[in-house]
Amino acid sequence: MVSQPQSKTGIVKHLTNFIESRLPLEEMRHLAEKKLIPQHKHSVWYYLGGIAGMLIGIQILSGMLLMVYYVPEISAAHASILKINSQVNFGWFMRSLHSWGANLLILALFVHLFSTYFMKAYRKPRELTWWSGLILMVVSLGFGFTGYLLPWDDVSFFATKIGLDVASKMPLLGSAVAYMLRGGDTISQATISRFFVIHVAVLPALLIGLLGGHLFLVQVHGVSEPDVFKKLPPEKKTYEKFFPVFFLKDILVWILALNVLFGLTVFFPWSLGPEADPFAAAPMGIKPEWYFLAPFQMLKLVPPMIGPIEGELVGMIIMVCIALGFVIVPFFDTGLSKIKSRVATAFGVFVLLSLVLFSLWGALS
Ligand code: HEM
Repeated sequence: MVSQPQSKTGIVKHLTNFIESRLPLEEMRHLAEKKLIPQHKHSVWYYLGGIAGMLIGIQILSGMLLMVYYVPEISAAHASILKINSQVNFGWFMRSLHSWGANLLILALFVHLFSTYFMKAYRKPRELTWWSGLILMVVSLGFGFTGYLLPWDDVSFFATKIGLDVASKMPLLGSAVAYMLRGGDTISQATISRFFVIHVAVLPALLIGLLGGHLFLVQVHGVSEPDVFKKLPPEKKTYEKFFPVFFLKDILVWILALNVLFGLTVFFPWSLGPEADPFAAAPMGIKPEWYFLAPFQMLKLVPPMIGPIEGELVGMIIMVCIALGFVIVPFFDTGLSKIKSRVATAFGVFVLLSLVLFSLWGALS
């Protein structure tokens, strides 16, 4: 007997059966369907985490492609980026996509951080989600800082130099960490090797582990409800299913975000400055990336000495205290005291406004 070629649906059915008998797909589907998204006027902020996740996917893909041609050596790094930009098919596109993607990711993360903060999503039982998020923010800024040096152009070289000099002023471990990152007292081959390994191996490993934990916690606790929504009578509360309703909307928002990303990538291709010359003077008005501008500008404004203490050190201590405020906020504002809740909100508004104002000031000065 001649066997008939199997229809496509038959193959799909066999494959589904194969997977279903080996993985708890039904349970997974139930779990996804059980998750409900509250509908209120702040629901838009629930999209931000998903946008960040989508952008991380783009960064991983474009980063892997860039690694094929990038050479982490001071004598070849700049030339390898020039080659990517001008000789490799779609190389300019991948590099521009990776650079714009990094900036949009950090922007999305800042919005995600502050929106979850103002929605009080750090309160019990989401403290671990909040802390894992804070570490993810540090990891993402670390990606930005280490990646910036890799093209080895003059701006990236001097911005990194200034960044590490500032970091070395940090109380206690600052100078030891800066020394380790540089691989000595000056930026050299040792620095680019370290930054490369941190950028393509250490941080991705941390990111994947932390992100897995973060998303697992979001699945376990569901998304938080703002105070006003929580107080509504049950008949006035409306929800939509995460799967498939909110998930499909998520995809729509990703498509919109991708349009913005591709628009920037294509119409404003990421530039490359002249090759770094470690012996030259720093170019005039050198500045770090926008997301490090606020602390940079603040440190520029402090006087050299405040009483017997170095001004920069005082500035650093203030910034460390602000960061600690974000770490301890779940202990402070547990939701039981209205006054503490207002203090936490005021603290968030103060930090957000300071970040925006100092960044604008830094960019325009
Ligand atoms: C690498 C980056 C990150 C990704 C991909 C990510 C992803 C997500 C996703 C998909 C959600 C659920 C939907 C939503 O509420 O947006 C979420 C929730 C949450 N994220 Fe993130 N996140 C990241 C970083 C952060 C950061 C920097 C923070 C803040 C410190 C943070 C804090 C939270 C909190 C508290 C929730 C729970 C929100 C709620 O229940 O309403 N995440 N995250």
